[in-house]
Amino acid sequence: MSTSPRGIAGVFDRAAETYDAVGVPWFGPIAAGLVESLDVQPGERVLDVGCGRGAALVPLAHDTGPTGSVLGIDLAPGMVARTAADVAHLPHVEVRVDDASAPHLPEASYDVVACCLVLFFLPDPLAAVRAWLPALAPGGRVGVTTFGEQDPRWKVVDGVFTSYLPKTMLDARTSGAKGPFGSDEGVEGLLREAGLVDVRTVRREVVTEFADPEHWLRFSWSHGQRAMWEAVPAGDHDAVRAEIVRRLEELGRPIRLTQGVRHTLGRRR
Ligand SMILES: C[S@@+](CC[C@H](N)C(=O)[O-])C[C@H]1O[C@@H](n2cnc3c(N)ncnc32)[C@H](O)[C@@H]1O
Repeated sequence: MSTSPRGIAGVFDRAAETYDAVGVPWFGPIAAGLVESLDVQPGERVLDVGCGRGAALVPLAHDTGPTGSVLGIDLAPGMVARTAADVAHLPHVEVRVDDASAPHLPEASYDVVACCLVLFFLPDPLAAVRAWLPALAPGGRVGVTTFGEQDPRWKVVDGVFTSYLPKTMLDARTSGAKGPFGSDEGVEGLLREAGLVDVRTVRREVVTEFADPEHWLRFSWSHGQRAMWEAVPAGDHDAVRAEIVRRLEELGRPIRLTQGVRHTLGRRR
C-alpha cells in the first residue's frame, strides 16, 4: 500500500485510541504466530519495527526476559505514547518514534528483528529491510508478517470502498497479487534480495468473529482500513455504511472471517 509514510502513520495516529481495543482478537493472534516462529530466547536483544500497540512487542519482552531487551519503533506518535505507557513498568523495553524505512539504530546490536503487518505500508519494502540489516548482529534473525489468502468475503465487503480509492490503495492488505506480497515466494524473494539467508515461510490462519455489522464497522475504523473510510467523502459515509451493513447481513451471524497469515523468516550471514 503505497500511501506516503507520513500519510499512513497519520492514519494509525488517528486510529491509536481504538487500535486492537474493539473486542476483535486479531492483532494478538497474528503476532503470536510471529513470536512463536522467532523463538526468542532469554537475554536476546530484539527490535520490533512498526510496533503499534505492542501486539508483538509485549510477548517478545516476555520471551527476552529482563536479561534481554526490546526496542519498539513506530512512526505514529499516538501509538508510541500509548504503548510506551503500557510498558513503562518493564525496564528492558523501550518504545520510540522512528521510521521503519530509515531507522536510527546502532550497528550489530540486535539478535532479532520482528516486523508484524508493517512492510506492505512502506514505500520501498526492499530498501527498508536492507536498512535494518546493519543493526542486526551476524547470524541474527528476521521475521516479517504479511497477509496470505483472504476469505473472499473480505473482498465482498471491502469492495464497497473500491470506487473511492486511489489505485495505490486498492489492495491494502497485500499491495497487489502481482507484487511481492501476493505469495510466499514473493516475500521470500524480497528477504533474499535484501541479503538474508535460510529464508522460509511459516503459514498460519486466523479466524475471527464479529457479533454484528456494527462490530465490524467499529473494527474497520480502528486499524489500517481507516484509510479507506478517510478516502470516502463525508457526504457518502452513510451510503457506504448502509451498503456494508447490507452485505454483512447477508453473511448471517456470527460474522466469521478467515485470514491466511505468512511469517517469513530469514537470517543474516
Ligand atoms: C497494522 S499496524 C501493526 C502494528 C503491530 N506490529 C501489530 O502487529 O499490531 C502497522 C503499524 O506500522 C506503523 N508504521 C507505518 N508506517 C511506518 C513507518 N514508516 N515506520 C514505522 N512504523 C510505521 C503504523 O503506525 C502502525 O502502528
